[in-house]
Amino acid sequence: MAVPFHPGETIAAALLRCGVTDLGAGATGLRGRYFCGIGTCQACLVSVDGASPVEACLTPAREGMHLAPVFAPVEPSQGSEP
Ligand code: FES
Repeated sequence: MAVPFHPGETIAAALLRCGVTDLGAGATGLRGRYFCGIGTCQACLVSVDGASPVEACLTPAREGMHLAPVFAPVEPSQGSEP
């Protein structure tokens, strides 16, 4: 999904303006989300271009970014039951 943004706008602001409030699986087991908006709560961590997590509320959006949840859901293994 492509998300439009204004120059200087943060990732979180751009996502919120598009109605995206769920940032996927977070480090604590809770869903990632925008909360404090000042980099303190770490609830908005996202992975950008496969790199280490950043705060979406502090990181400026830029063209071509690929965002992902901090933790991808773990798929149960198939066909390996005892
Ligand atoms: S919303 Fe709290 S650190 Fe980003």
